[in-house]
Parts: sequence; C-alpha cells; structure tokens
Amino acid sequence: MLLFVIAACVARGLGSEARWRGGSSGSDGGAARTLLVIGAANADIIVDVDRLPVAGETVCARDGVRVVPGGKGCNQAIAVARLGDGVAARFVAQLGADSHGAMLVNTLLEHGVDVSRCVRQPGGDSGQGYVFLEPGGTVSSIVAAGANGCWPELTAEACAQLVAGASAVLLQREVPERVNEAVAAAACAQRIPVLQDIGGEDRPISDAQLRRCALISPNLSELHRLTGGMPVGSDAEVVAAAGTLRARGARSVLITLGARGAILVAEDGSVHRQPALAVPGGAVVDETGAGDCFRSAFALGLIEGVPLHRCLRFAAAAGAIAVSRLGAVPSIPTRAEVEALADAAEDA
Ligand code: RIB
Repeated sequence: MLLFVIAACVARGLGSEARWRGGSSGSDGGAARTLLVIGAANADIIVDVDRLPVAGETVCARDGVRVVPGGKGCNQAIAVARLGDGVAARFVAQLGADSHGAMLVNTLLEHGVDVSRCVRQPGGDSGQGYVFLEPGGTVSSIVAAGANGCWPELTAEACAQLVAGASAVLLQREVPERVNEAVAAAACAQRIPVLQDIGGEDRPISDAQLRRCALISPNLSELHRLTGGMPVGSDAEVVAAAGTLRARGARSVLITLGARGAILVAEDGSVHRQPALAVPGGAVVDETGAGDCFRSAFALGLIEGVPLHRCLRFAAAAGAIAVSRLGAVPSIPTRAEVEALADAAEDA
C-alpha cells in the first residue's frame, strides 16, 4: 500500500502540495519506513587556511588538521537518522579496511544507521575528503575516492535486492556512475522514488538517468557545469537552467543557492522559492555537509508526507544549523533543533 501511494504521488509529480505519503508516521504510531542512501563515506581532513593557494604557491594551515567523518553518502545517511521520525536510515557503501573505515562504520552505527550492506574492502583505503576551510566558513574540497571508486559489478538482481523495501533512495555522485544508473533503474522498476544529488564528480549525466529520478538536486556551481555553463547568477537564470534539465527528462529540480536559499522547480513547472534562514549565532562557521543536511531533510519531509513548502523550510532550517558548526557529520542537528528553527521562521 505504501509503495502504491508513493508511486501514485511520483506519477503525479511534485505538485505544490503533493504528499508522497499521507497518514501516520513514527512518533504517532505509523509503520516504519526506510530511506536508503547509496554513496560515499570519507574521512574528512579539515585544513584551516586564511586563503587558498594560487598555482605554484604554498600556504600554511592555521592550525593542526582535524579528521572527522564525512562523504556525501555518509553525511546524508546520518542526517536521515538524526532528523527522521520513524524513518530508518540504511546506508550502502564501499569502505577500506583501514582505521578511517573503522571510524566511519562506528560513527554510522552510533547514529543507528543500518550498515549491514556496507563492505570493508580488504587492503583498500577508505575515501578521503580534503576540506580547505577559509574564514567565514567557505569550503573547497578535493575528494580521493579510495574504496568509493571500487564498487563490484552490480547485477540487476543485486540492485533489486538492495532497494527492496525502501521508501525512497538518495544518490550522490561520489561513486561510479554505473552504480547510480543500476540502482536508479532497479528503484524505478519497483516504483521507488530516487533523489539524485548532483554533488560529486564533474561528469555528464545521461538523459536516461535524469528520467529515472523523481528529483535531481544540484547547487549553483553544479547546475552551471551540468548545463554546459549556463548563467546562474539570478533566480530567473537558475529557473531557466533548470528548465534545460527538465527538457532533457529531469522531472523536478531542487537547487541550493547558499546564502540565497533554494529554488524548487516542480514537475508541473511551478517554482517554489525558499529563502535561507538566519544562521543560529549569526556566523557561518563551516559550510561542509550543509547541502547534505538540506537534501536529507527535504527527502524526509517528502516521505513523511509534509507539504512542499514545509519540506523546504525544514530543509532550510537543517542547512542553517549545519553551517553554524564545524565539520560535516559533527554539524548535523537533531530533529528538535530543526523543528524549533523552522517553527520560529514560520511564526516570524
Ligand atoms: O558534502 C560534503 C562532503 O563532500 C564532505 O564530507 C566531503 O567528504 C565531500 O565528500
């Protein structure tokens, strides 16, 4: 029944008040649902710098480096676990047999994420994210894929088993594209909605993959490069760029705009704007993982049956809190924190 309701809503598209699932959930006694995240886990090595070096230049870090759990998939899975109400988080990833892999698995387990399908590759190194953090919280990252780039061949049957029972699937672009394509195809066959984060490797995306996804979600720079360099400076330009992706088959496009908030272009073409919410404490400390928090929060709102404008506000609140703290996983707020900020924004 649940899959039928979701499939019906996806077939309808993300209309302005579309509900992916009505009825009860979690705290009010409804059946548990599962959000499946398939993607990368990285040990994030955070380096504080006054500024980035130019070509040929050396700059010195301000402090010692910190190593914290990260990777877009891992961040999104833990965000689901922290922000969900009666929604289970399941994460599927390839990790190394190194100490970073142990740190990542332990962190996921501490947050109650189901990691039973994660693989530790003998002799492999876990992925690493080199995060250069400038004053004001701006981050630039370089990812070394490690085990995230070493997925085995996935048969259609294996993918069908991976996605079975999920209410929705979250994908990013830090694992090989063939993995995302195969998983999305299996999810489509089971009428499970796929939300594809465009964050990760700069590579083309096929029209077929766009069509498989209920929603794709780039940030501004990702929208720019995915559209072959279209301008994205104004809201009108963002909507126009999203339109070219929709013309290729994308159904709904959710664009995060940093300090400008977010824009959702829904399947029916309606445009929904969400301003950024005030950052608690007033200062952006570290943007790392804020987009992951935003996307997980939005996905949770959808599968919990929340109207779109409230999904967007819930996601904006999650992102605003995340940027007020250091690190990716360490910055992920609790549901209570996010609800309090979202409610305050609604009352304002
Ligand atoms: O989205 C943030 C993440 O991107 C970081 O945790 C880093 O690992 C990179 O994957």
